[in-house]
Amino acid sequence: MRLDKYLTTMGIGSRSQVKEYIKKGKVKINGEILKEPEYHVDEENDIIEFQGINLEYSKFFYYMLHKPAGYLSAVKDDHCETVLDLLDVTPKDGLFPVGRLDKDTEGLLLITNDGALSHELLSPRKHVDKKYYVELDGTLTQADVEQFQLGLDIGEKNLTKPAKLELLDDYQKAYITITEGKYHQVKRMFRSIGLTVTYLKRISMGSLVLDESLEKGAYRPLTEAEIEDLRCNK
Ligand code: URA
Repeated sequence: MRLDKYLTTMGIGSRSQVKEYIKKGKVKINGEILKEPEYHVDEENDIIEFQGINLEYSKFFYYMLHKPAGYLSAVKDDHCETVLDLLDVTPKDGLFPVGRLDKDTEGLLLITNDGALSHELLSPRKHVDKKYYVELDGTLTQADVEQFQLGLDIGEKNLTKPAKLELLDDYQKAYITITEGKYHQVKRMFRSIGLTVTYLKRISMGSLVLDESLEKGAYRPLTEAEIEDLRCNK
């Protein structure tokens, strides 16, 4: 099988993406960088590595997607396009987004078939940090920073866990870091202090930070280091 086809079949990316990866020297055959997409691999005997990962052993796939507004964080939907529609990889079976971003929220979304890692990242007991950039229809104050730290009543049984609010320029923009993942949590937190979120973008989740070189709607496989870091400090 051609090398580019093999990599596509292994879920590394679309045909054009894997050609780029090959040309950039990210693929090794039997320990040597190989830059010809048309090279015929011997799937039985060749040791094929992508970014240092031996593909024979990789049954899990991890993609970082820069989610644009307008897509549902779901695998399938009868009416709307989903984030999985943005992925041009085969096979797609078993891939799902880790957690949900609202349809109008942009930014970092991890897509994988690794259920165990997803469970660890989403478990409320793990308190994984999620950082968002937010724009508002009004102005924040230093008192809000303290209030977010103390916890807010968003209509749940308990107050929200301490959240870090970092005010930006005109105080109508901020970074907010939360450790929970309740439905519409960020929007509800600002709503509870009388403000409406006009734009929301996730910047990071645990150790994983959105690669700003990814255009909206673009994605790339996680590097081995990113996967390792997620597994270690979740
Ligand atoms: N909080 C929200 O309100 N919306 C999101 O998409 C993510 C967090």
